[in-house]
Amino acid sequence: MRGPRGRLVLGLFVLGLGIVPAAAALTAATGDPERGEPLYRRHCAVCHGAAGQGDGPNASFLDDDQPRDLTDPRYMGGRRDEQLFRVIAEGGQAIQGSRFMPPWGRTLLPSQIWDLVAFIRALSAPARASPPPTGGPSAGAVLASELGCAACHRIGGLERVAVGPDLRAERSRVQRAWLVDFLRAPRAIRPAGYRPLWRSRMPDFRLSEEEAAALAEYLMSRPEREEKGPDSPPPPGEVERGRDLFRRHACRACHSREGAGGRAGPDLSTIAGRLKPAWTLRFLENPQAVDPLSPMPHLGMGGDDARAITSYLFDGGPPPPEPAPDPGAASRGEALFRSLGCGGCHDDARHEPVGPDLSGTGDKLKAEWLSQFLRRPDRVRPWLTARMPDFRLSDDEARILLGFLGGLRDPAAAGLPERLRFRDVPPEANVHAGRRLASREFLSCASCHLGEDQPEGAPEEWAPDLRISGRRLQPDWIVRWLHDPRRLAPGTKMPTYFSDAASGPEDILDGDEERQILALRDYILSLGATGGAPGKAPPGH
Ligand code: HEC
Ligand code: HEC
Ligand code: HEC
Ligand code: HEC
Ligand code: HEC
Repeated sequence: MRGPRGRLVLGLFVLGLGIVPAAAALTAATGDPERGEPLYRRHCAVCHGAAGQGDGPNASFLDDDQPRDLTDPRYMGGRRDEQLFRVIAEGGQAIQGSRFMPPWGRTLLPSQIWDLVAFIRALSAPARASPPPTGGPSAGAVLASELGCAACHRIGGLERVAVGPDLRAERSRVQRAWLVDFLRAPRAIRPAGYRPLWRSRMPDFRLSEEEAAALAEYLMSRPEREEKGPDSPPPPGEVERGRDLFRRHACRACHSREGAGGRAGPDLSTIAGRLKPAWTLRFLENPQAVDPLSPMPHLGMGGDDARAITSYLFDGGPPPPEPAPDPGAASRGEALFRSLGCGGCHDDARHEPVGPDLSGTGDKLKAEWLSQFLRRPDRVRPWLTARMPDFRLSDDEARILLGFLGGLRDPAAAGLPERLRFRDVPPEANVHAGRRLASREFLSCASCHLGEDQPEGAPEEWAPDLRISGRRLQPDWIVRWLHDPRRLAPGTKMPTYFSDAASGPEDILDGDEERQILALRDYILSLGATGGAPGKAPPGH
């Protein structure tokens, strides 16, 4: 216990001396709570809680060493600014407290730590005792923004933000076999989210095996240099030393291994099947040198200690050799990466929305279908390579998003004249007239739209299955669509059949265009009412 531990504590002490004088020029008075807030969110809230009450999502994994409630005026009033500065810079050890409070002095500048002190002070100030005013963006808008819906959709006032990690270094970072597996069945890597406390996650694209392999090949072909891993096996005792250092640095405060430990960072039990040793070593030495925004603290380990911890984490043998790259797959993968909209979440400047415009969703889609689709997206547009990924939404999240999307109205929808609005179940005669109109004899909708039979031509030319449309579209939207599809979707291939009073077939419903549009609407609705397409499971199964 004595020897190595003494060295470590001394190391921290020396470093502490280095920080405090450098910071002497600055004081709490120069700290700015507004600058401190985002730092707090990135590095501290996972343990101390969004409002500072010590109830962050990682707190329950810390056993008896609970994070301090930073809103408690009695306790906080007894702490001087310099004391707070020192705990933040040097960790819980600076007050003979818990090692689960990590040292941040190598991750943050002294000025940033003062910003944090100022922010923490505001948390326990009496004025803050009342809850912060609400009235900002709705819960639905926040959720849609955190999940990255705007990566693929134009959607009411939401800006696109990169909600996922940078993928340009995957080649030096992860194992190919893991990557293919992950793309086929994504799961949470960072339990607290890639952006701490955001609900961002990697959605499931329902990729085929070949698609996942091609995407992996592309990611593994990206230019970043690949470091050489340690080629000799670790010297005897190295793994043991690593285990000891792992305990001493309190890595367990944030990482679980073999079932125990925090959930602020990734589970480190299976790291040998996921990461590469050389990358891990470099990351442990200085996480912010690898990713400036990484929430993982720079713990000031020397190369020797980082190597020992890496040996411990990878104990169990070297990773399997990688198969030879397949350059053809890489270029197929790049095309897929683009067309699936991966870059929308993973920061790619050449970004174009790949999903439909969602601005008028509340006037377009039936709530019931929308709710099913959000939980279990299905294909609507057969010609798109892009697809709506599965976000594995919880019931609560699906409900919040449903409320948000249902509230996105199209101002033009209000202009639909009363006589064209849907009232109740249409008369059978209307449905019949609509079926005739849609048939090959007249407007031949099935030459593009999927249905009982497949349309002619290539799948890229096909249009949605009208049996699904009847289930998902609101009646009044169908009328507006049939009247003028180009106004709702500029550039669509759907023809405008009813451009003027002479455009409809003469021998149906007296050639009256309005009645013909209503008949087509009723026909499409009747298709939806008869349930799913034959041979296909109904939604939700
Ligand atoms: C892994 C969880 C964890 C993270 C992340 C964390 N803390 Fe802590 N923090 C703790 C624990 C545990 C304590 C209690 C230490 C003790 O009293 O023994 C604590 C205590 C504190 C205290 C009280 C010190 C005192 O004087 O009693 C302050 C201030 C503090 N943390 C600030 C921060 C700031 C600022 C950050 C982000 C830069 C942060 N913490 C990140 C776990 C964490
Ligand atoms: C990777 C791109 C991508 C992301 C991210 C994405 N979508 Fe989609 N979404 C699509 C595509 C592509 C379609 C069209 C699917 C089809 O028609 O087959 C779609 C369709 C939809 C539809 C049906 C719209 C219509 O008019 O048919 C809704 C609603 C929707 N998405 C909501 C969401 C929400 C909410 C989120 C965030 C939780 C989201 N999408 C995130 C790509 C995406
Ligand atoms: C305050 C919490 C915290 C502490 C303490 C901490 N980490 Fe981390 N660690 C994280 C977070 C958060 C991430 C994810 C960071 C990212 O993606 O940039 C991470 C990422 C990692 C990774 C990369 C994992 C992956 O799958 O991508 C390794 C390896 C790692 N940490 C090892 C350690 C070791 C070893 C220690 C102790 C010496 C330690 N960490 C201490 C929070 C922490
Ligand atoms: C809606 C946003 C979103 C879209 C679209 C998206 N991703 Fe992700 N992706 C994420 C998030 C968030 C994570 C981090 C997950 C975690 O840490 O739990 C992630 C993680 C990953 C990872 C693991 C990275 C690592 O090393 O930690 C890979 C690889 C990846 N995505 C590839 C892709 C590919 C390929 C596509 C397109 C098929 C794609 N992503 C589309 C949000 C997205
Ligand atoms: C030349 C091909 C073509 C023909 C013929 C055609 N459509 Fe379409 N239709 C499309 C395309 C393409 C879309 C998808 C629109 C888009 O998203 O750009 C579409 C969309 C639709 C939609 C919305 C579907 C949804 O679920 O979002 C309806 C309803 C519709 N068409 C009805 C009809 C009817 C009724 C007829 C016959 C009177 C018809 N279409 C004939 C190409 C066609």
